[in-house]
Amino acid sequence: MVRNRCISVKMKRALIHFFLPLLQICVQLNTLQMEKEQKYPKITTHVLQEMKLKKEKIAMLTAYDYSMARILDQSGIDIILVGDSASNVMSGHKTTLPITLNDMIYHASSVMRAVKRALVVVDLPFGTYQGDSKVALQSAIRIMKESGANAVKMEGGEEILDSIQRILSAGIPVMGHLGLTPQSIHKFGTYVVRATDDDEARKLVEDAHVLENAGCFGIILEKIPAALGAEVAKQLKIPAIGIGAGHEVDGQVLVLHDMLGITQEFSPRFLRRYHNLSEEIKGSVQSYIRDVKNVDFPNEREQY
Ligand code: KIV
Repeated sequence: MVRNRCISVKMKRALIHFFLPLLQICVQLNTLQMEKEQKYPKITTHVLQEMKLKKEKIAMLTAYDYSMARILDQSGIDIILVGDSASNVMSGHKTTLPITLNDMIYHASSVMRAVKRALVVVDLPFGTYQGDSKVALQSAIRIMKESGANAVKMEGGEEILDSIQRILSAGIPVMGHLGLTPQSIHKFGTYVVRATDDDEARKLVEDAHVLENAGCFGIILEKIPAALGAEVAKQLKIPAIGIGAGHEVDGQVLVLHDMLGITQEFSPRFLRRYHNLSEEIKGSVQSYIRDVKNVDFPNEREQY
């Protein structure tokens, strides 16, 4: 009897020793999560500015549909980019050039139905803003009106300044994009690192200031030397978000399908794959095929 009571006391102590720290960790994690949610319940361009001032890194990913955007938003991503990379990863085109304004509005509307917290930025597609600033404004207005997105992104510097200014004057937030600008791929000829020579680096820094002075709220720096990325981020007051621009910028962006390993053919040095989802999906699909062929699906519990 006494022995049994001793065992029970010992077990209680062991349980307390084991579970109490676990409980404390859970409470701490929950508090951290709540603090995070309370800190920035909604990401706006002003919050991004605040993050830059506080040296808090900004995390940005692409999304093109409701389901993925919902997962990203629930995970706490700061910015969702409805990128024209949808042309590649969603439609299978070789470049971003073929995607249309209607396509972008379709993707952006799907994303907007899912997102509660993240700032949603939408790419103005090739041919909808470069020539005529009035056309550019009409394109941006269509995106904002028909999708409900928060901002637009445009590739280029000085050469598209008129369009940027006109769009900004209508109260539409604009994000710039310098370095490797995929809509100009036929001018570049290849997807190699940009601004490795002094002239191109100087022009990039000048363009970054042009965009900031015009009133852009942020800027993407794609595939440039890390030292140049660091220099631009240091000189600008607005956040500079890198993709292949090193870690001394104000945040990072990746294409979701690349970082999840859904796409396989694209593997630049800057890409970190967090998953090999294409293999996992293939495995699941093959299991399903096997079950169907073997009349193992549906089973008794999976039918009416
Ligand atoms: O379209 C896109 O996904 C982009 C990122 C590569 C920045 O512009």
